[in-house]
Amino acid sequence: MLNSGSNVDRNEEENAQCEFIGNVGLRLRQPRGSPSAPDLSFAVPRPFWGKGYATEAANAVLDFYEKEKGVVDVLGYCQPKNENSKKMFRRLGFVDAGIRNVKGIKGEGTLEVYAWVRSRTGKRIEAFGIGRE
Ligand SMILES: CC(C)(COP(=O)(O)OP(=O)(O)OC[C@H]1O[C@@H](n2cnc3c(N)ncnc32)[C@H](O)[C@@H]1OP(=O)(O)O)[C@@H](O)C(=O)NCCC(=O)NCCS
Repeated sequence: MLNSGSNVDRNEEENAQCEFIGNVGLRLRQPRGSPSAPDLSFAVPRPFWGKGYATEAANAVLDFYEKEKGVVDVLGYCQPKNENSKKMFRRLGFVDAGIRNVKGIKGEGTLEVYAWVRSRTGKRIEAFGIGRE
């Protein structure tokens, strides 16, 4: 079972019978100047790669936030050479925005990352405060 950043987890009794194998979640960054939409993150230990668990969990989290919370725009960040993450974002319907400098991902500073956007309203990444510089 993957821990999710939403309230879709099972109850305590069911949790006790499951093994937690990773994390998937949405986070709205707080520092001043951070992007105005939340971003999706995911991590699964290597023995569990290549089985579709992360994709299934991420789709469930995205669905939950869209249907229950009205979150229709989601961002994503990964290291430029992280090909597994890039494939994940593509599978989930994110659009490639290339390398960007993003504020608020790591403390108050700016970090160079590979950025992604999944906007149900057709917005470009610039609409969320992420420019080229
Ligand atoms: C990013 C990460 C979660 C991706 O893991 P992953 O195993 O590629 O993703 P999934 O669990 O969704 O598995 C999908 C793969 O399983 C395959 N697969 C096998 N059986 C499957 C099934 N029944 N259903 C769906 N996919 C299946 C898919 O074809 C796909 O393989 P492919 O990428 O070669 O096409 C993982 O690499 C990771 O945790 N990395 C370290 C942390 C990290 O970098 N996090 C990202 C920071 S933004």
